[in-house]
Amino acid sequence: MRLDKLLTDLSVAGSRSQCRDLLKSGRVTVNGAPVKDGAFSVPAGARVALNGQALDTRLTRHVMLHKPAGVLTAAEDRKQKTVMDLLPPVYASLGCMPVGRLDKDTTGILLLTTDGELAHRLIAPARHVDKVYRARVDGTLDQEDAAAFAAGIPLKDFTALPARLEVVAPDTALVTVQEGKYHQVKRMFAARGKQVTALHRLRFGPLTLDEALLPGQYRELNEEETAALYAAAGMTNE
Ligand code: URA
Repeated sequence: MRLDKLLTDLSVAGSRSQCRDLLKSGRVTVNGAPVKDGAFSVPAGARVALNGQALDTRLTRHVMLHKPAGVLTAAEDRKQKTVMDLLPPVYASLGCMPVGRLDKDTTGILLLTTDGELAHRLIAPARHVDKVYRARVDGTLDQEDAAAFAAGIPLKDFTALPARLEVVAPDTALVTVQEGKYHQVKRMFAARGKQVTALHRLRFGPLTLDEALLPGQYRELNEEETAALYAAAGMTNE
């Protein structure tokens, strides 16, 4: 990759002219030698540094975010705060995107990745990737609700795939679904005459929300988690 593109993608330089100035200053080195030419082709595995500090040049990133309420799951929005605003700008400039969506008021685990194919596969219903939510409702849940979820709830435009509902308190259940259609869990409960008052996603496929993450905090996935995620998508990350 060209050095100027790499520096821009890594959000080290905002604009082309900033990038040119930075390079001219000689503060950027590749494998220890200052490089002033933006067209320089950076060899794979090269150590690129700014002011002597090595840059993290990984172009592929996978992130787990504890989505707080009140933030949109979108790449950008002119008016409202999005999940991308919770991450340093380097993630957006590397093309990191949310894997599926959580509603503005839904909290919990949201994955973001630069790998579009991975994201696409993880949300395809055919892959049967489980998503587990804790839902609180404004009524009392019972075994009839669980049976209806297991049978597949007919909605206006489609019938939801069979889902697991485990009642953990009179007004609270753990729900496991394999689809992620718009407002799906809320609509499934509404079809049972119950409104969801709080929705929190605990698990996405093989990954459980890291309890150390407070709402609004994120971390990158470790190697084991990344491999498990690719396996859930039927891919390898070799
Ligand atoms: N189902 C919903 O209704 N909302 C979400 O945010 C996620 C699943």
